[in-house]
Amino acid sequence: MPVTRCVCFNKKFSELKKIAKANNCSSLEELQEKVTFGENCKRCHPYVKKMFETGETVFEVLPVENSD
Ligand code: FES
Repeated sequence: MPVTRCVCFNKKFSELKKIAKANNCSSLEELQEKVTFGENCKRCHPYVKKMFETGETVFEVLPVENSD
């Protein structure tokens, strides 16, 4: 299953991208000033960062960072 949204806030990356464009946001932090997302588990953060880097809004699941 590809990753297409911030699940916690039900915000699609494609929607977030439009909002970023309309508001000239170029980072996750700037975008969070315009729309509420990414404030719970934060697992969407690496994907939103990738969206800013690549312009893509559909992602393969990234490898989980292992803490041990
Ligand atoms: S998926 Fe975005 S905060 Fe949980």
